[in-house]
Amino acid sequence: MKYLCTNCGYIYDESIWDKDEWIKAWTKFFDLWNNYVCPICWEESENFQEIIEEINYLDKDNLIWIDLEHFIDIKKLDNWNIEVLIGKWELHPSWEEHKINHIYLLDEYWDLVDEKFLSTWEDPVVEFDISDLDEYIIIARCSIHWLWGRKVEQ
Ligand SMILES: [Fe+2]
Repeated sequence: MKYLCTNCGYIYDESIWDKDEWIKAWTKFFDLWNNYVCPICWEESENFQEIIEEINYLDKDNLIWIDLEHFIDIKKLDNWNIEVLIGKWELHPSWEEHKINHIYLLDEYWDLVDEKFLSTWEDPVVEFDISDLDEYIIIARCSIHWLWGRKVEQ
């Protein structure tokens, strides 16, 4: 989810690790400390407005090309570990101007379990430990095409 500061237009984005404010990725807006204010104009948090935004889920039957490019392929390595690859037939590009920036592992309550940061030219292939999870959600963030998600029940 994203929240807009109605005073200055700043957007708080739950999916992003805000290094300047020391807020971890997937920190819910309502879990921010009580006296959170806009980091730009100091507007109070009650004057932020929710922005409705969809994650593109890849569970549907007919995938078009943009889905294929961001397809979240999951391979079981053993009982505890998975390998996550982004891209159906070939991996998503990892160019400076178009790449997968982050891949997140969330539990069924949308709490962040693990996150991987990818640099330019690094293939979008990561490993996660899922041993404590019955259900999980993988989210990939593309620098251009935003958020892609896949829910998995073991
Ligand atoms: Fe993309």
